[in-house]
Amino acid sequence: MATHRRQHIADWIRYFADRGHEDVRPLAAGVEGAVYLLGDGRIAKVWSGRRPVGLGLMRRVYDDIARESASLPFATPEILAVEEHEGVLVTYERELRGTPLRADSAVVSPGREVPARDTDALLTVLRALSAVPGTEAMRCLTVQGDDRPLWEGHARFPDALAALIQRAVRRHGDQLATLVPDFAATVRRTTESLRALPDDGPVVTVVHGDLVPPNIHVDDTGAPTAVLDFGFFTTAGDPAFEAAVTAAVWDMYGPYAERHTATLTRLFAEELHHSPDTLALYQRVYALTTYDLFSPDGSDGHFRWCAALLRRGAVTPPR
Ligand SMILES: Nc1ncnc2c1ncn2[C@@H]1O[C@H](COP(=O)(O)OP(=O)(O)O)[C@@H](O)[C@H]1O
Ligand SMILES: [Mg+2]
Repeated sequence: MATHRRQHIADWIRYFADRGHEDVRPLAAGVEGAVYLLGDGRIAKVWSGRRPVGLGLMRRVYDDIARESASLPFATPEILAVEEHEGVLVTYERELRGTPLRADSAVVSPGREVPARDTDALLTVLRALSAVPGTEAMRCLTVQGDDRPLWEGHARFPDALAALIQRAVRRHGDQLATLVPDFAATVRRTTESLRALPDDGPVVTVVHGDLVPPNIHVDDTGAPTAVLDFGFFTTAGDPAFEAAVTAAVWDMYGPYAERHTATLTRLFAEELHHSPDTLALYQRVYALTTYDLFSPDGSDGHFRWCAALLRRGAVTPPR
């Protein structure tokens, strides 16, 4: 660990200890910041990287989800307090039970097969979230990296996504095009397929949008106890979008990543009754709209992963 990082953690430990949290200890550090366990049933998240968009709105979204807690077999986050220290935002949240389903695939590569413990947990989470209705507050959220609420000016989720793609491609699409042959055609066919999705289709439900394994907590038996870290791509939308992204991000960086995505996509299509073509379409949407969120120039793993997903397979119209 770099010295400045150790110093940074020590400074924040002192900060929380000075405020009466004597048992504070670091829990996790990620791209956006670090999480500290306060020892009193609460955690503190220090947002030293990217700031979360619309905290007030996020609290309303968490309240909307909590209202459905009777139908959720796991807990969801609750923001208890917010403060700022030397320009850095700190949020206090309820400590959620359990431990991450698994480490991020960039840290620990999953083995050849997807364990039943993981597929069971993912299906439980997807089924439960698809019973949480989409709300006005969810529609007001902005996807990370974008400049307006996803639903602004749109009545249908697929149309909102098509417009999002066009804005995202204007950001650094030139860089992405260097890695994806026929890029313009891929963008065109993807937006056309979205606009062609049937109207009478999906119910609008909550979409977490970033169900990577560290954002799902499980107990000793593997049953989900909590879903956390909403916000990256949280919105109201088609539950098939959630399933598609979840299948794609369970393993992004391991040696069997592509195979795992195919396996999970097939499984979710069968178990949750989604069209496999729609799932593949939504996976391309995810790649076209998040590719530049960690660096604009293609120098990071996420950018390359999005490009690889877009190079994969023919762009077929959804059934
Ligand atoms: N409220 C919470 N209760 C318990 N653990 C948490 C809580 N919030 C975050 N964590 C733990 O910290 C890790 C990182 O937090 P997270 O909010 O996902 O931030 P990020 O992924 O942006 O670094 C999570 O994977 C989870 O294990
Ligand atoms: Mg997380």
